[in-house]
Amino acid sequence: MDLTHRPRRLRRDGVRSLVSEVDLSASDLIAPLFVDATTDERQPIESMPGHERVPVDEAVARVEEIRETGVEAVIVFGIPESKDDRGSRAWAEDGVVQRAVRAITAETDAYVITDVCLCEYTDHGHCGLIEDAAAESPDLTVRNDETLDLLGKIAASHAEAGAEMIAPSGMMDGMVGAIRERLDADGFTDVPIMSYAAKYESAFYGPFRDAADGAPAFGDRRHYQMDPANAREAMREVELDVEQGADVLMVKPALPYLDVVSAIRREYDHPVAAYNVSGEYAMLHAAAEKGWLDLEGAAYESLLSIKRAGADLILTYFAEDIADRL
Ligand code: PBG
Repeated sequence: MDLTHRPRRLRRDGVRSLVSEVDLSASDLIAPLFVDATTDERQPIESMPGHERVPVDEAVARVEEIRETGVEAVIVFGIPESKDDRGSRAWAEDGVVQRAVRAITAETDAYVITDVCLCEYTDHGHCGLIEDAAAESPDLTVRNDETLDLLGKIAASHAEAGAEMIAPSGMMDGMVGAIRERLDADGFTDVPIMSYAAKYESAFYGPFRDAADGAPAFGDRRHYQMDPANAREAMREVELDVEQGADVLMVKPALPYLDVVSAIRREYDHPVAAYNVSGEYAMLHAAAEKGWLDLEGAAYESLLSIKRAGADLILTYFAEDIADRL
């Protein structure tokens, strides 16, 4: 028996951390924040224990809580006071995200990213303009090109309010280019774009759709979000976003798509982000509640695995809890 090679030598206390390949740090994490124009009080989100929708007046206080844990960046989602077929509250100067971002950037040092999409603002709940909302067809077509102009308007209104990074999540073809062009035309040449470049049509978004009230009223998102069967297609999606000027490339969800994270890591020099989504959070909480697994351990291992696969930054609902522990 030749035991010249004993990998266990490097697993002893004292040396383990010297040879560890990746580290998790609070500065890698982005905490999602839900600001709700329909409420005066913080509303717990049932399917996401520990998370709340907060009124605009509480946005600063909520960000300060996040910052106290060591997390420095937030991504803001808005629940508007009203919805219509075009999602016009998404680019309103006094819209929920615009008001919250103005307050957060004026009163805190947080790095503020905004999600740019129409689904929380349209009465039909889709991420773009649709052909004929009244038909309520499950085989609906989102009007890609007409939606681009609106995404540019939303992005510019967020930047105007002080957003420091723009994250378009609607999976419209050409969205990064349209937003880059509009930001540049309005003088926001220094505001980077983190593209939801490979965003899959996933069952793991369930709790988020309760949280942000953005479930489609009919049909689904399979004609614009990616088919979970496809990894090579993700490389084409990413390539297009790179050509259009994306600064950070995101994969979403994270854990079921670590192959995609790692393939992008190998092919591109850009920072890679992964979104550890609401369903990934909710399932660990549900199992922990039953006593079936250790929440903190499972959450830490999940985030470490996402980094190991090649992500530089992670958007996660565990941000505060894990940062606190680090
Ligand atoms: C909006 C958006 C969604 C998420 C982030 N931005 C929902 C969706 O596409 O249905 C999901 C985030 C999560 O599940 O945590 N387009």
